[in-house]
Amino acid sequence: MSADDQKKRSAERALDFIEEGMKLGLGTGSTAEHLVRLLAEKVANGLNVVCVPTSDRTAALAEELGIPLTTLSDTPHLDITIDGADEFDAQLRLVKGGGGALLREKIVATASDRMIVITDASKQVETLGAFPFPIEVIPFGCRTTEEKIKRVAADFGCTGAIERRADEYGEPFLTDSENFIYDCKFGAIPDPDGLEKALNLIPGVVDNGFFIGIASVAIVGTDDGTHLVEPK
Ligand code: A5P
Repeated sequence: MSADDQKKRSAERALDFIEEGMKLGLGTGSTAEHLVRLLAEKVANGLNVVCVPTSDRTAALAEELGIPLTTLSDTPHLDITIDGADEFDAQLRLVKGGGGALLREKIVATASDRMIVITDASKQVETLGAFPFPIEVIPFGCRTTEEKIKRVAADFGCTGAIERRADEYGEPFLTDSENFIYDCKFGAIPDPDGLEKALNLIPGVVDNGFFIGIASVAIVGTDDGTHLVEPK
């Protein structure tokens, strides 16, 4: 079974958590896209929900498929957000932002009673950091901010290369909020909790890819079915 089949399996199981009348956050990425497509089938069959998308990309897909959308301005409190992850560990600490949507994903997830993570089996790791760690940075003064990120990261034992993300034309990648993403090849991150807090104190850093203490469960798709991982 491919990783994509496992992602779809995980998204299918997530539907079991959705109830009539719920207000939902819709994640971003290939796993979340499975969820959006499956949810659209339920909506077409009469399920009544309203959703806040975590990116322009997800908004466009959900709209095209006829899922009723709202905004956090109109609906500031949600029941569940369902989203993918780039990595997670046994404590259900996540790294997200591979798709560049980490800021809206975190705002929407923390506006929700529960965040449910949907993933294939490859995303569970012993130690976070194998996936390039994304940090969202305001363009103004970004070289200064990058230097500060390097110094703070080194204090936490993380010294790998830090690169500004580029789009398919080699231009700087811009998030939906028109910020840059810096991908940090730290390797194993010894203290995610400390690093998260320290990075977010740097002026110019909007947010970083750690989701710590946010997710309540991960649904992991495997070749044999699905299993749940809850924070230890
Ligand atoms: C988007 O910014 C990310 O946080 C995604 O949730 C993450 O990259 C998972 O993506 P896939 O579902 O495509 O693996």
